[in-house]
Amino acid sequence: MRIVLQVTILLYSVGQGQPQVQGCVSQPTCTKCLMSPGCAWCKDIKFLKTWESSKRRCDTQESLKSRGCAHPINPSAVQEDQKNNDLSSDKQNVVQLQPQNLHFKLRVGVPQTFNVLFKRAQGYPIDLYYLMDLSFSMRDDLDTIKNLGEDILKTLKKFTESIRIGFGSFVDKVALPYVSLVKDRRNNPCPSRIHTCQPAFSFQNILPLTSQTSEFRRKVTEQRISGNLDSPESGLDAIMQAAVCQDVIGWRNNTRILVYTSDDTFHIAGDGKLAGIYEPHDGKCHLNGSGFYGGKTFDYPSVGHLSKVLADNDIQLIFAVTEDIVPAYKALSKLLPLSVVGVLKNDSSNVVQLISEAYNNLSSAINLEQYDAPAGLDVSYQSHCLPGQKEAPWQTKGLCENVKINEQVNFTLRLNVSKCLKEKKSFYFKVQGITETLKVSVETLCDCQCGDGEESSQHCNNRGTLSCGVCDCNEGYLGQRCECEKPKDAISVDASCHQDNSSQLCSGHGSCECGKCKCQGNHHGNFCQCDNTNCPRHDNMLCAVDHSKDLPCSTDTAMYEVVSSEGNILVHYREIPKSIDRTYVIIGSSVSSIIFIGIAVILVTRLLLELHYRREYHNFMKAQQETDWKETKNPLFRNATTTILNPMYES
Ligand SMILES: *[C@@H]1O[C@H](CO)[C@@H](O)[C@H](O)[C@H]1NC(C)=O
Ligand SMILES: *[C@@H]1O[C@H](CO)[C@@H](O)[C@H](O)[C@H]1NC(C)=O
Ligand SMILES: *[C@@H]1O[C@H](CO)[C@@H](O)[C@H](O)[C@H]1NC(C)=O
Ligand SMILES: *[C@@H]1O[C@H](CO)[C@@H](O)[C@H](O)[C@H]1NC(C)=O
Ligand SMILES: *[C@@H]1O[C@H](CO)[C@@H](O)[C@H](O)[C@H]1NC(C)=O
Repeated sequence: MRIVLQVTILLYSVGQGQPQVQGCVSQPTCTKCLMSPGCAWCKDIKFLKTWESSKRRCDTQESLKSRGCAHPINPSAVQEDQKNNDLSSDKQNVVQLQPQNLHFKLRVGVPQTFNVLFKRAQGYPIDLYYLMDLSFSMRDDLDTIKNLGEDILKTLKKFTESIRIGFGSFVDKVALPYVSLVKDRRNNPCPSRIHTCQPAFSFQNILPLTSQTSEFRRKVTEQRISGNLDSPESGLDAIMQAAVCQDVIGWRNNTRILVYTSDDTFHIAGDGKLAGIYEPHDGKCHLNGSGFYGGKTFDYPSVGHLSKVLADNDIQLIFAVTEDIVPAYKALSKLLPLSVVGVLKNDSSNVVQLISEAYNNLSSAINLEQYDAPAGLDVSYQSHCLPGQKEAPWQTKGLCENVKINEQVNFTLRLNVSKCLKEKKSFYFKVQGITETLKVSVETLCDCQCGDGEESSQHCNNRGTLSCGVCDCNEGYLGQRCECEKPKDAISVDASCHQDNSSQLCSGHGSCECGKCKCQGNHHGNFCQCDNTNCPRHDNMLCAVDHSKDLPCSTDTAMYEVVSSEGNILVHYREIPKSIDRTYVIIGSSVSSIIFIGIAVILVTRLLLELHYRREYHNFMKAQQETDWKETKNPLFRNATTTILNPMYES
């Protein structure tokens, strides 16, 4: 019996002709259909038979064509190059990233790939801002730094002709316990009176980026050392301000390098609490008119915040620090996007060589990523780092290391959108540390532009708009052709013509007319699911057809007994097996007996409680009557007023 049943189910589902074809999951409306990968929609009015559900309009393009659809709607993805200048090392017009602007129209779930080229150009301009720790221990370095401008220029000339250089310094927040606030020490914070120091500050922009090296020398010569009380300095405050004060520092859209020199560690977010500074840093520029940042309002920035700010502003960071504190900065550098740590001699004499080496290291790693990509858009990268390399795994970003100047690398990018976007969305791609961007705008092909939209269409009984081959009925009407008046509670008339979710309207054997199946031929039943011709026959005569009785149409019960007596055929109904009923009886009786026992238990408990309460109440009343209440004075009570009699007093 089990086998027969399974076979029946198998036949049943095959017979239903599931609309789900490989590569397309059918949907009932055109918009939903286009959101389903691999699907096309047929808008031809006469495409469906009356009993076919509108899901059948949604199928693979080939399948629709083979079923006779003249014009399947199947928009395909489009890529438009809006700006696609060739790579160039021309100094007036350097182009390192190609293309520059793309527009995509994408189908949901259908990936689209395109290529991006990158080439490090010779002679790309460099902006270098030198950030120096001015705490007292750095006083021997200040002399070395004075000549730095010319040296850096000479060294970096091998990379580019166009270099600008700037200078800033940092000490610590002007608050206890970092800096002494005693007036004399505040004005001259040197450890001994022999030296003269300048008052401390958190950060000062001394020289905005300039191509004048003489200016650099002059400004650095003017600097006096400063001092503070504790050893960690406000280095993170300084990096933050140098990164976000774009206009004051004067960063251009070039390679941006921040050189950080120090011989000590740095304060981190949370240290501000020592001075009662709780407010987290707001990531904004707070320099006053003379380029000072006192830092008393905001806490030190967190490393995560700094990392984001540096990435957003394409600033590459070179830590040039003395040997003893290298481990601390190596740990910090791991958390920052584009940064390297180099060992600074205790008098900074090797800083130029260090900068040039670090610059080379930094710019040899090409890291392509997307920024602000809309939710639901998946971007994957294939990096072809060596010339001619074709095969590469898909990754979440593009990465090539040890790329030399004038070497070209190639990335294949894949966009896959998983849902419809409400409007055109723009985002961009960028190589870390390079300000050039590839702008991309994306829209999704989710609208069915069928180009019809006939209002009060005759096809819809003048009660709806015909669009994409489907009637969109006016308020109050329903049905494939708006032939039904909407009952108050029903959501969809068609829904009541489906036996279950997966089946066709009226099992594919009838049409749904205002929520009732009108069956064809020999089919009957609420969903036309019954077929009389499936009943057993005897001598080519149909057994037991009696429409007055509501026959079950399942085939898993042997329903008939044929008795042949003296040439006459007698057909008896055998009692429908009671096995199912018995289950119900068992379930029913056990449920009711459980309920009955439950009620009985509750009643008995309640009764016992009631008796108990009564007895208690009775005792209470009795005790109350026997009690003799008397008014007595609390022995602990003392009157608040005391009367003292003066024995000498005579009235
Ligand atoms: C740098 O490029 C960005 C966007 O590409 C632009 O908004 C900004 O104005 C440019 N800055 C300068 C100084 O050219
Ligand atoms: C900026 O701050 C510094 C140090 O706190 C102060 O000496 C200077 O006068 C301030 N400049 C302006 C323009 O407020
Ligand atoms: C700097 O290092 C040299 C040797 O490398 C040493 O002789 C000198 O005393 C150091 N100076 C300071 C200020 O630590
Ligand atoms: C540059 O890279 C080389 C090799 O990877 C490494 O040995 C060196 O320490 C790096 N220098 C800097 C300053 O990062
Ligand atoms: C594209 O996205 C769809 C669903 O959003 C997913 O089923 C499909 O596997 C994705 N294709 C690729 C190549 O990632």
